[in-house]
Formats: sequence, C-alpha cells, structure tokens
Amino acid sequence: MGYCCCTSSSSSFNHLVTNFTPRFKGLKIPHQNKWPDGSQRASKVYAYHGLKTPPYKLDALEPYMSRRTLEMHWGGHHRSYVEALNKQLEKNDILYGHTLDELVKVTYNNGNPLPEFNNAAQVWNHDFFWESMQPGGGDIPKLGLLQQIEKDFGSFTNFKEKFIEAALTLFGSGWVWLVLKRKEKRLEIIKTSNAVTPLVWDDIPIISLDMWEHAYYLDYKNDRGKYVNVFMNQLVSWNSATARLMYAETFVNLGEPKVPVA
Ligand SMILES: [Fe+2]
Repeated sequence: MGYCCCTSSSSSFNHLVTNFTPRFKGLKIPHQNKWPDGSQRASKVYAYHGLKTPPYKLDALEPYMSRRTLEMHWGGHHRSYVEALNKQLEKNDILYGHTLDELVKVTYNNGNPLPEFNNAAQVWNHDFFWESMQPGGGDIPKLGLLQQIEKDFGSFTNFKEKFIEAALTLFGSGWVWLVLKRKEKRLEIIKTSNAVTPLVWDDIPIISLDMWEHAYYLDYKNDRGKYVNVFMNQLVSWNSATARLMYAETFVNLGEPKVPVA
C-alpha cells in the first residue's frame, strides 16, 4: 500500500507507490512551493516510492534460491535502496513529480548521474529482477518469444550460451539483460555495471539477472557458474518475458517474421 498526500485536488502528479515501507509512516517531509525557476507549483505533493513485493512467497523459489537469500536480498538490500532513495528525495523536492521509471532516466542525466540515480535504478532493477523469475521457471520460451530469439540468436541453445557467457564475463557487480533494441528491432544481450540499467538508453528490458554477490553468495558461495545456470534452467520466467515482449510490440514493430500476439 502506498502513501500519497496532496493538499489540492490536482492529479497531475502520478507516483508509482506500492507496498509502502511502514518505517516511513508519519514522517514529516520538507516541501517547497516553488520550482527552481521561482514559478509556483500547482500543488503540494508528498509521496514516497515503496518496497514492491516479489510476485511469489519468499520460499517459492527453493531449492534454487533460498528463503534466506530472498529475506536478505529483498528484505535487506532492496529495502535499503528504497529507504535511501526516499531519504534523498526528502532533500530534492523537484524529483517528486516523477514515476520510478522517469526518475531513473532523469537522474541518469545523460551519463552524468545525479546522487539519486544509484538508489532509484537499483529499486527499479530489483523490482524487475523479482518478476524475471518464477517458481517452476526455466524450460524454453513459447510462441513469439521463441521465434524472435531464434531469429536474433540463431537458436535457443545459442542464446542460452551467450547469456551465460555474458554473465560469467561481467567484471565486478552488475546486471545481465535480454533487451529489445528499439531502433534495431532485435533482441540483444547486454551487461551493465553497478546500478546502470538499459532503461537509460531507451532499450526495452525483457529479462534481467542480478550479478551482485549478494544475489548468490548465500546459496552458491563463489560459484557464479552454478548460479547463472540455475537461473537459466530453473528460475527464469519466460511467462514474464513473453508478456513484456508483447507489450513492447506496442512500441516497436518487429517486422518479419511476425511475432504472434495472443
Ligand atoms: Fe541485488
């Protein structure tokens, strides 16, 4: 549940606020009535970004990803990013008017990130990561997604090998993504360091894999290879990926071969 308090009836500010973190309830938020250029704001809006819950129980990914890992990763690290972001937003009123997606893009600031970027991007990245997995995941994609993967990677086996190779050659902490490139109209595997997310280049993410050590250490210690293979064979949600690709088709005409839309 979110928290949003407006002192006027204006609905011009929309915030993606879900599963509000109780710790912030009742917190007094400093607010400025004017934009930096001195013009008057239309309304006072107090809002926070919330800690979104994974779409399954915390033990639902066992034995491949333990409840202990989810408690630490979602309940600890992800929560910390949310709380740190909200603390930063207390001090930067001008950023209140953005959804989380917009906040990530705006604070990236064309490659010169503002202080809020890392926390905003990590909140977005983790929301997306939880929904990139499902109980009983793995297997192979169906319908149009499989066709598109075969078109862009030659075969599903080749795609898997390239995704795993990308994950295992990522230096340090970061993310591996399957994205749809808007201009090229094709799927690509990309790697990003630290908090950087393909949203900032206007790519459309389809799947993500968290390659920060906190994502796998409790279950797999330093065996990144085992973690990545388990993700691909047992956890990845092709259902989410298929839905995301279908949604992406609203914006990108993939051309031939046609990707069937249910
Ligand atoms: Fe993480």
